[in-house]
Amino acid sequence: MANGARTERPIDWTALRAAADRVSARAHAPYSGLHVGAAGLAEDGEVVVACNVENASYGLTLCAECGLVSALIAGAHGPLRAVSVTAGDRRPLAPCGRCRQVLLEHGGGEILVDAGEGREPVTLAALLPGAFDAEELASRRTS
Ligand code: THU
Repeated sequence: MANGARTERPIDWTALRAAADRVSARAHAPYSGLHVGAAGLAEDGEVVVACNVENASYGLTLCAECGLVSALIAGAHGPLRAVSVTAGDRRPLAPCGRCRQVLLEHGGGEILVDAGEGREPVTLAALLPGAFDAEELASRRTS
């Protein structure tokens, strides 16, 4: 593009939330009973989805957002632009702290996170202020 500006298609939050809701039905969540779905709009325009996968050894549980990032990388879809996480009820679920950090690596603080119908999305930077990131790691290492 001549002026270097990127033209990005507007984000269809209703569709993204619906995708999160749909995949939540596939969650393996026999222990918590919380069926989580995550949908992410990637830079290439694809919507990537995943759900949580629990384990009898509780601490081994995989959050939906971790599966989302795995699918994003495996499919070479580029960074994330927007994410919606729900518990199958068409309402956004707050990504846990670990998942905020995992998402950050794959789109940065500008990733937009669904705040629900009729609400402005929030940035990941607002959800994870003062985050530790790859830049800080690189500038602080001593060996
Ligand atoms: N969970 C997610 O999948 N993502 C989050 O961001 C919050 C929590 C899942 C993990 C576990 O299977 C269940 O929700 C209850 O914590």
